[in-house]
Amino acid sequence: MNFANRMNALKPSDIREVMKMIAANPGTISFAGGLPDPKLFPGEAMRQATDKVLREQAESALQYGLTLGYVPLRQKIAGLMAREGVVTGVDNIAITTGSQQAISLSALLFLNAGEVVLTENPSYLGALTAFKTFETDYISVDSDEAGMKPEDLEAKLVAHPEAKLIYVIPNFQNPTGRTWSLERRQALVALAVKYDRVILEDNAYGEVRFDGSRVPSVKSLDPGKHVVHMGSFSKVLSPGLRVGWICAHEDFIKKFELVKYGCDLQPAELAQMQVDAFLEENDFDAHLETIKGVYKRRRDLMLETMEAAFPLEARYERPEGGMFIWVELPSHVDTKAMLPEAIKRGVAYIPGESFYPLADRTNAIRLNFSTMEDDKIVEGIKRLGALIKERL
Ligand SMILES: Cc1ncc(COP(=O)(O)O)c(C=O)c1O
Repeated sequence: MNFANRMNALKPSDIREVMKMIAANPGTISFAGGLPDPKLFPGEAMRQATDKVLREQAESALQYGLTLGYVPLRQKIAGLMAREGVVTGVDNIAITTGSQQAISLSALLFLNAGEVVLTENPSYLGALTAFKTFETDYISVDSDEAGMKPEDLEAKLVAHPEAKLIYVIPNFQNPTGRTWSLERRQALVALAVKYDRVILEDNAYGEVRFDGSRVPSVKSLDPGKHVVHMGSFSKVLSPGLRVGWICAHEDFIKKFELVKYGCDLQPAELAQMQVDAFLEENDFDAHLETIKGVYKRRRDLMLETMEAAFPLEARYERPEGGMFIWVELPSHVDTKAMLPEAIKRGVAYIPGESFYPLADRTNAIRLNFSTMEDDKIVEGIKRLGALIKERL
């Protein structure tokens, strides 16, 4: 078949390969996925919300709707944005099919073939894949525990005038779990303004904070049109419903409406109304507290076990939220090569290599702490620690 040139750049992700290995070895303790714990889904409350929607509003729930999304839900999202320090209204909000579509369609709005995106190093694999679809490349900016380093960002902005977009995950980053400091957020916005570039702020994990206090969002620091903010209900309600959003300047939203219409006409009406009814009928904050309580306990347990089971050479930080712990091992350890042996011993992780835009580092692993039960976390980390010690 004569596929488009853009297909040449796309290959199956390593994560899918890891998932296949896990599926072939039932009983594996998996720290690999990035899924929310399904036991925390509010199944019964969602059933009631769905019943209510279909009883009272079936005709509109099953009909076509607006390209930018269901207005009452956009109003509620404007309320969530206020927690991020952004005063906004429905005209600045568009609903998307998960925040993945927000990334992909934002890229579609801006990127011509041959252009580049500036990303953290490492960054979220799904976004890297989405950018690749547009026949673009990425330039990774040196990043540490506080975010992108402004000196390196500025050098790359100067060197790459064709880099229109800067893609960042400032809260509990996937894969590192890191949160940007306020100073780094301010420096990022100042540079985007100075060089007239657009920041894509991916806040998929923003509501999953269990330590410390909220840092103002990058969008809240935007003096004008430089930040496109993306949020999602996937990590805090249900990823299967596929409801995410964009909050941006009206100029962006108007263009976004055109590409969204061309892509899939509109977000799914019933899913939006289910989320809206859930938020209407339930205490969302209480639900968030339940999730955060469980994830915090699992994070603590994982870190505690790592402290005893991992060698001193393994370096990692304490994420204040989200779902991931990022571990860096001495540079000679190849974590991709180590994985088959780990799976043989009944434990899985994602090798860090996939998350580096240039796939140029092989010594990191991403551990997910949101899905495994406590006893499995302890057992899995002990097995992994023993294997790492052998490889040193
Ligand atoms: C950083 C980040 N952004 C976006 C997404 C996409 O999430 P969704 O499309 O389900 O909202 C994910 C999912 O894992 C993620 O980790």
